[in-house]
Amino acid sequence: MSSGANSSGANGSGPAAGADSAGTAGGSATLAVDGLVAGNGEVIALDGVTVTAGAGSITAVLGANGAGKTTLLRAVSGLIKTRRGQILLADHDVAGRGPEQIVRAGIAHVPEGQGVIPELTVEENLRVGMMSWRRGQRADRAAALEEEYARFKPLADRRRKLASTLSGGERQMLVIALGLAPRVMAQVMDLVVRLSREHGLTIVLVEQNARGALAIADHGVVLNLGRVVASADAATLAADVALRHHYLGF
Ligand SMILES: Nc1ncnc2c1ncn2[C@@H]1O[C@H](COP(=O)(O)OP(=O)(O)OP(=O)(O)O)[C@@H](O)[C@H]1O
Ligand SMILES: [Mg+2]
Repeated sequence: MSSGANSSGANGSGPAAGADSAGTAGGSATLAVDGLVAGNGEVIALDGVTVTAGAGSITAVLGANGAGKTTLLRAVSGLIKTRRGQILLADHDVAGRGPEQIVRAGIAHVPEGQGVIPELTVEENLRVGMMSWRRGQRADRAAALEEEYARFKPLADRRRKLASTLSGGERQMLVIALGLAPRVMAQVMDLVVRLSREHGLTIVLVEQNARGALAIADHGVVLNLGRVVASADAATLAADVALRHHYLGF
């Protein structure tokens, strides 16, 4: 059936990390979002968005911070109400359904913000992240910890707290502090490709690392301020210098 992977990583405009992805159980189906209008409270975050994710393919949804990528996945998953438009899963409109019904219809959403070990404290996470450091660097670990705490004050205040208790933004800081983003990102990308190729899932991948996303996607859609500004096969988007410069940050 249909799935979306929202994996927000790092791009030129700002670091971020974590994976937010959605997938479907069962066979392959086309997911067609047509003229979708949705918002977060008063803010109209999606202003008539049309995206088609072909059955069994990977579609990358790209765009700068605040473009509406997460809102699109949240709307598709029924986590926020849609105001107008259709969300067709194999010609079956699921717009306006609740999240449980949408999951049952075959759409699964894997939220971003992973990449830390929730059962460990902030400091334990950072120490684990430094375990691969070479011998000679070990003496620097304590200093490196203090450096990260100085950079991310909220982490210093929460160093003894479990990572599971952090807010989204704090967790994001921890992932960045860990310097894990590229590795986590590569693992998520591998998984997305495997889900698509081996299980025939329809994947919608939301990712700020446009270059990485386009490398594995079949098709790409670029959002800006809640509207689609480009939609083409991934190779075409990756080769568009002006588009890359204006919207994709690479
Ligand atoms: N909970 C919320 N309440 C009000 N406005 C929100 C909320 N979440 C997002 N917005 C607004 O909706 C718009 C789209 O945000 P969204 O989170 O979908 O962007 P995004 O493309 O996922 O950005 P990012 O790359 O930073 O994750 C932005 O203007 C944002 O400020
Ligand atoms: Mg987002």
